[in-house]
Parts: sequence; structure tokens; C-alpha cells
Amino acid sequence: MGDNREILGNKSDHIETCLFMNKTYFCPKFLQMTTNRTFTMIKPDAVENGNIGAILEKITSAGFKIVAMKYTQLSRRDAEKFYEIHIERQFFADLVQFMTRGPIVSAILEKENAVDDFRALIGATNPAEAAEGTIRKLFATDIAENAVHGSDSDENAAIEGAFHFSGREIY
Ligand code: CMP
Repeated sequence: MGDNREILGNKSDHIETCLFMNKTYFCPKFLQMTTNRTFTMIKPDAVENGNIGAILEKITSAGFKIVAMKYTQLSRRDAEKFYEIHIERQFFADLVQFMTRGPIVSAILEKENAVDDFRALIGATNPAEAAEGTIRKLFATDIAENAVHGSDSDENAAIEGAFHFSGREIY
């Protein structure tokens, strides 16, 4: 490889090359900036309503492979950090309260064009505006309690996946 390649961390099974800002680096697999991975959470409302199985079935039927998954509960600190981009929004406190009130399922999903295809599968943020057959149309109640999260870019998919999973938890 060229001179512009840096070694970040130890080379191991979890290390491979990845592209960032048009340069090639050695980096942990979970930081790969490719278009084939996205990050999702099945949110507390969908868990409370018993929809984990039905939502996972929609996801895998649409061709997404689950490469990491856990059943967990966000602390207040986790939720504030994860959603810090929304800190100035008037719904921020309610969002943190909602996302910490019960368990969630978090997962990293793999598929060609994962970010865009997954956002199409889940539908608009507001379920009232979501297309028929989308996960939010089927399982969400309102714009705040909207059943699932999906990353909005490849960069955020990598950041959000790394927030929830270590390299050893991704297969
Ligand atoms: P998501 O897009 O996964 O991540 C940001 C979350 O903030 C969003 O889902 C909703 O849960 C919540 N949210 C976004 N817009 C609003 C809004 N206008 N009112 C209340 N909650 C919102």
C-alpha cells in the first residue's frame, strides 16, 4: 500500500483496511466506512408492545444480515451521549426519558446499500407519514415513540455501531 496508510491499533482478525477521507488505513472492522452496514435499535415502545420478533422478521426478510445484536437498557448518560446531536431540541428531555425507560434491542445490520435500504424499510420518522408496510407504519405510535432507529449516514452508522458494540461482538 502507499505511504498514506497508518496503523491504528494492533493488526489482528478484527483489523482490516478501510477508507476514510480518501485515504486507506488499517482500522477496526467495525469502523469500516462502507455502504453495507447500518445500526438499528428496537426502541422501548416496540419492546413493551411485544414486537421484537415481528420487527426482526421484517428486517431479515428484507435481506439484512444481523452481524451484532444485544438486548440491553440505556442509562441516562448513554442516551444523552447517543442523542447529543438533538440536545438543543425541545423534545430532548422526553427523548432521553423514553429511550431509558425500558430495554431495547440494538443491532448492526449488513446488506448492500444498508443505510438507505433500511431507512426505506422503516419509513418516515413520523409514523403518520410512513409508507404502508414500513416498520414504523406497522409498529410505531407517534413521532416520539417510533419503534425503531436507523442510522442516517454511513459515517453515523459506524459511530453508532461503535457506541454499542466492541469489535469482538461483531461477526
Ligand atoms: P430517530 O430518528 O431514531 O432519532 C431521533 C429521535 O428523536 C426520533 O427517532 C424520535 O424518537 C425523536 N423525535 C424526532 N422528532 C421528534 C419530535 N418532533 N417530537 C418528539 N420526538 C421526536
